Amino acid sequence: MKKRVGILISGRGSNMRALVEAAKAPDYPAEIALILSNRPDAAGLDYARTEGIPAAVVDHKPFRKDREGFERTMQAALESHGVEIVALAGFMRLVTPWFVEQWHDRLINIHPALLPSFKGLDTHQRAIDAGVKLHGATVHLVRAEMDEGPILMQGAVPVLPDDSEETLAARVLAVEHRIYPQALALLCSDAVTVEGLRAKTPVADQPPLIA
Ligand code: GRF
Repeated sequence: MKKRVGILISGRGSNMRALVEAAKAPDYPAEIALILSNRPDAAGLDYARTEGIPAAVVDHKPFRKDREGFERTMQAALESHGVEIVALAGFMRLVTPWFVEQWHDRLINIHPALLPSFKGLDTHQRAIDAGVKLHGATVHLVRAEMDEGPILMQGAVPVLPDDSEETLAARVLAVEHRIYPQALALLCSDAVTVEGLRAKTPVADQPPLIA
């Protein structure tokens, strides 16, 4: 049985697109049941609609002082579409411990850095400024603390001497689009066991570490 996945977006939605494309394969263990955006103008919504995938907007603005109300409205939308696993894909709102608890070990995120380095925003410029030689992306299970949680998969890229934030971001994004569908597939095939901060996955399913 394919798992029903809800994808939360706020903007461009290129990772969402990678997940939707992957889910077209007959043997992919997930189907995309809902695309949910907190911004009515998210570009990714148009793509979802052209693909015939249910798309919904829960605008955070009317809930400015009521984060719980915002999340309960999202939760109702996810439940009404029978969602079993939630993938954050460029969703730019912090989720509360309540929401994380509803989706314990069923909520994943992609972060554009090799966690636990460079949590938060502006990861590519910070990686360049720090002089690291390897950078990349991480798919992890979400916990209450921002950008923390058991790591499902990572992909690394070199940082080249002439890199700008843009060139490095593009190199990382290509890796994001490879590892996010693979990591979601692992979770949806019940191939992940979690012990503390360690998520154990079959080694054979890991992609090459360095792109
Ligand atoms: C990606 O870099 C992702 O890692 C981060 O936000 C960005 C979203 O891009 N969480 P997109 O909307 O998936 O194109």
